[in-house]
Amino acid sequence: MKEQLQAIETKAIMALQAVDSLTALDELRVAYLGKKGELTAILKQMGGLTPEERPIVGQLANKVRSTIEAKIEERLVQLKAEAELKQFEAEALDVTLPGKTTKQGGLHPLNRVLNDMIDIFKSMGFDVVDGPEIETEYYNFEALNIPADHPARDMQDTFYVGDDLLLRSQTSAAQIRTMENRKPPIRVICPGRVFRADEVDATHSPVFHQIEGLVVDKDITMCDLKGCLEQVAREIYGPDAKIKFRPSFFPFTEPSVEVDVSCPECGGKGCRVCKGAGWIEILGAGMVHPNVLSGCGIDPNEYSGFAFGIGLDRLTTTRYKISDIRLLFENDLRFLEQFDK
Ligand code: PHE
Repeated sequence: MKEQLQAIETKAIMALQAVDSLTALDELRVAYLGKKGELTAILKQMGGLTPEERPIVGQLANKVRSTIEAKIEERLVQLKAEAELKQFEAEALDVTLPGKTTKQGGLHPLNRVLNDMIDIFKSMGFDVVDGPEIETEYYNFEALNIPADHPARDMQDTFYVGDDLLLRSQTSAAQIRTMENRKPPIRVICPGRVFRADEVDATHSPVFHQIEGLVVDKDITMCDLKGCLEQVAREIYGPDAKIKFRPSFFPFTEPSVEVDVSCPECGGKGCRVCKGAGWIEILGAGMVHPNVLSGCGIDPNEYSGFAFGIGLDRLTTTRYKISDIRLLFENDLRFLEQFDK
């Protein structure tokens, strides 16, 4: 019996080496150590032994069992480690491969500058309002003190889409809508697209953008207008920016001014950008005409206000040194992608 036990141990150890899966290992455990296994079968014959032999064979049988058990455990650890390694290899990522990127869109340069302007005006307490791009003659001209036969209509010839409907030629129409809907104090900007029957060239486009500003309250003076615009110019062009007013004419403001900013390129000395002038025109402005106020039901003896209209396209082309306004409207990705960053 001793020899049989020894033989089982040797056979089991040999068999273990050939086992290459967890199921095969389990089968082997059953074959040797299970209830119907070889070792159990031998132990069942122990009854036939002499009382002297029994403890010796019993001890040996226990030793064989624990040796086989230990070897099975050892193999189990090995097999698990091998399986894990295989899994890791199968799931391995090559981190040196280039990643899959999704193409992201970017903001149009006009929107970038517009967003900055909105931030500046919001920080000064302005609300942003919207107005329709298709306007009536009343809002675009008449209510702005430009009657049907007024020569100022020539400069703002636009596209008519019906007898009384036109594509707005200026965001100033939003002044009227705002004053009809709000009571003073009013502090709003209205950015948007405007249209004029202009020939296309490097500096003209039949579609362009303005940001209209309007402030109406008690005791608003030209000083408020100047202070406000000076602050805006410093925010856009830096703390050394200066502005100057030149007399001008708009039917809906009195007095009216053109506003120039010291050339951001040369600081006022004169260069190619400002064509030697040292100044660049950035907007039109003025004190809201009393006719316009009273037309909107606001008493000009009690209230006064100022308005301004900024050309967003000009701001954008000077900011990014864009030489041709057409680039802003052609949607050429080679141009637009330069602003993605
Ligand atoms: N709407 C004027 C234009 O398009 C600009 C402007 C706005 C002037 C507000 C004064 C006040 O030329």
